[in-house]
Amino acid sequence: MAPSFSARLSLHVILLSVDLLLLSSVVTPSPGCYSAIFNFGDSLTDTGNLAFLTGGKAPASRPPYGETYFHRPTGRFTDGRIILDFIARAMRLPLVPPYPAGRGRHNFAKGANFAVAGARALSNAFYVAEGFNWFDQLLQSSSPSALAAHDILKQSLFMVGEIGINDYNHVLLDDRPIDSVRAYVAPVVHAIASAIDVIQPLALVRTGAKTVMASGMFPVGCIPVFLAKFRTQDAEAYDPATGCLKWLNEFSQHHNLLLRRQLGRLRQAHPHATIVYADIYGALMSIYASPRRFGMTSPLMACCGGEGPYHFNFSVGCGDPTSTWCGDPWSYVCWDGKHLTEEAYHLQPRPAVDLPPMVDSSITDQFMLTDLQALVRAGAKTVLVSGIFPMDDVDSGGVLWRLVIKQL
Ligand SMILES: *[C@@H]1O[C@H](CO)[C@@H](O)[C@H](O)[C@H]1NC(C)=O
Repeated sequence: MAPSFSARLSLHVILLSVDLLLLSSVVTPSPGCYSAIFNFGDSLTDTGNLAFLTGGKAPASRPPYGETYFHRPTGRFTDGRIILDFIARAMRLPLVPPYPAGRGRHNFAKGANFAVAGARALSNAFYVAEGFNWFDQLLQSSSPSALAAHDILKQSLFMVGEIGINDYNHVLLDDRPIDSVRAYVAPVVHAIASAIDVIQPLALVRTGAKTVMASGMFPVGCIPVFLAKFRTQDAEAYDPATGCLKWLNEFSQHHNLLLRRQLGRLRQAHPHATIVYADIYGALMSIYASPRRFGMTSPLMACCGGEGPYHFNFSVGCGDPTSTWCGDPWSYVCWDGKHLTEEAYHLQPRPAVDLPPMVDSSITDQFMLTDLQALVRAGAKTVLVSGIFPMDDVDSGGVLWRLVIKQL
């Protein structure tokens, strides 16, 4: 079922790793009124595509996935809603239906979610790669409906989930030395940047979306699957403030540093585009540094999983007959050892709500999703929302998102 490889495909895959949200300043600004959301991404934003494509064999197809909010598995890799659901709610739009999973049941007039769990920047191995093809397909099939109209697209929110961590997962969990994992960073980051380079000719941009938000990687050293894998007696290996593995978080920081450099280059190459970096690492670290402030009592433990350190067990996944789950997922950052809980998706560190004057696209700030409309009313013309991400495949994941406002 994996799509066949092609250079084009590979670029498309990579493009997914850019957390991108394009809300262009529409000609007739109708503040806060977005007509549709289109999302590209992986398990952090999959709302049922992998479950559909695998005929219900994805882990997220079985309980207790979905238990907190939907009270049934929906294909979301969490206990309840994901970031995309919260964004849709804030936009007063319906839950974004998955495509292709929702074909035949939805008309996608208010958006479509092309995310499929599992995606790598450097590999052809994923359905996610089909995301942009599906988008094309949807535009064609709905033409000349409203969906195809430029006006609709211009008022749509485009999100593209981060990718890259899955490339690292495979190497990391394969016990290869960190140096060989680090060797992957430059190609992965380059792949992400190449995707942004080709965003310009894509339909998204042609129709008015001119802003790209690239998400950094989250702190891998705080995620149960890696904490379990690289557990050590060496106390020095851990950050005493958070309990996270320092060397793994340094790895995330290394990725983020190279990514930011590439974005700087891209800003010069595309002076008319707004290219924003979303500091997911920083957002999540503020939770790990003061979990209780966010109501998290077990930040490093998985809520759902098998017996083992961090409640993670490589042979017992969440939903397996012998797995157990915590009952209070809202006290956990991590749901299944790889992905975040609904509560973590929902949480945002909340700095001051006053908008800093933004003169540079590299300036980002975080806001509660619910502040979005107020911000737009206050004059923000371009609003970028970053969902983020992931570690699906092997899995570990996390997502945090933030809103980035650019004052035009
Ligand atoms: C993982 O689960 C298996 C099966 O339940 C168990 O035998 C094993 O001890 C567990 N591993 C750890 C590290 O607890």
